[in-house]
Amino acid sequence: MFRINENFLKLQGSYLFSTIASKVSAYTEANPDKKIIRLGIGDVTLPLCPAVIDRLHSAVDEMAVKETFKGYSPDLGYEFLRKAIADHDYKERGVDIDIDEIFVSDGAKSDSGNIGDIFSVDNKIAVCDPVYPVYVDTNVMAGRTGEFDKDKGVFRDVIYMPCTAENNFIPELPKETPDIIYLCFPNNPTGTTIPKAELQKWVDYALKVGAVIIYDAAYEAYITEDDVAHSIFECEGAKACAMELRSFSKNAGFTGTRLGFTVIPKELKCGDVTLNSLWARRHGTKFNGAPYIVQAAGAAVYTPEGQRQIKEQIAYYMNNAKIIREGLKSAGYDTYGGVNAPYIWMKTPHGMSSWDFFDYLLQKAGVVGTPGSGFGPHGEGYFRLTAFGDTENTKEAVERIIRTC
Ligand code: MLT
Repeated sequence: MFRINENFLKLQGSYLFSTIASKVSAYTEANPDKKIIRLGIGDVTLPLCPAVIDRLHSAVDEMAVKETFKGYSPDLGYEFLRKAIADHDYKERGVDIDIDEIFVSDGAKSDSGNIGDIFSVDNKIAVCDPVYPVYVDTNVMAGRTGEFDKDKGVFRDVIYMPCTAENNFIPELPKETPDIIYLCFPNNPTGTTIPKAELQKWVDYALKVGAVIIYDAAYEAYITEDDVAHSIFECEGAKACAMELRSFSKNAGFTGTRLGFTVIPKELKCGDVTLNSLWARRHGTKFNGAPYIVQAAGAAVYTPEGQRQIKEQIAYYMNNAKIIREGLKSAGYDTYGGVNAPYIWMKTPHGMSSWDFFDYLLQKAGVVGTPGSGFGPHGEGYFRLTAFGDTENTKEAVERIIRTC
């Protein structure tokens, strides 16, 4: 008789964004004439930029011709893309990354979940609270956590590092020593970030205690302030204790096209074993690469036209962030983030719980956001709005929130 992975039974309900989607579809079914404005999931709304679309078309044409047709992608991804990444994302910031340290994938969400394969289940993880749910849920699935503690709203045997307005959303170094530390800056969900000097403290700490940092930099393109690192490898010593996840979803609109990459420096070792070699083995065995046409389109992001066009899109979303941030602030709401990230984190009004506020806003204003408590217990009393919407809808959503609450 087969048995299931019982760790899955520890998970609570469905994935956060699936829960929200079902609540919203139940509401729209019951109220078909109501216009809903969706500022919930961080999904982009602008189309892929012309440089990317042109390259997608030409790459499709290559696939139609015997001489240029491509089958399986190289294990780590096409060299043209890895070279573009190494040059633009790293060399231009003074960071030397070898192309063999870059692993192209179908996105940062998959990588952040799959990376656990190379670590022992005995490792103790530390996460910020609130946190992108994928980091925790995938560790639950792997058996790297205890049961869910319903009273505290946390999984046992996980180190949660509170990030709230009281500590300026900067996690403190944990009292208990973790083995694996997940950091995401600019942060999802809070939309806040930490200065490079603070990030350096984490690198120093990881080196001291022998922990590895899984650094999610999916939102780096939204950084506007000079003292914020775009890559953890800008910090001294980081190559010996960190790996970095990157995505084409948020900077170039690939949420539906799927492309990302993970950087694992060869200096990152456990004893004599490089994590790079383990991930290469895992990648080669379990993954057959992102499609050629998508990797070709990804490389187009790094052309001068691609860079100009994606910067315009990022500016568009950051203008939405400003509309939300300043609109809500001037109406007296406590808001955070939205300066170096496309998320605004607001305090719920009148002490409402995050889910009560979600239901209230959906019913009364037809606006969808994400309840802060869905990201962890210290997200309770907060609410996340995304700047990835259409500008007119974003303005209307802010007006509706202010009018209704
Ligand atoms: C979010 O809304 O937090 C993200 O869009 C989810 C994701 O990137 O998977």
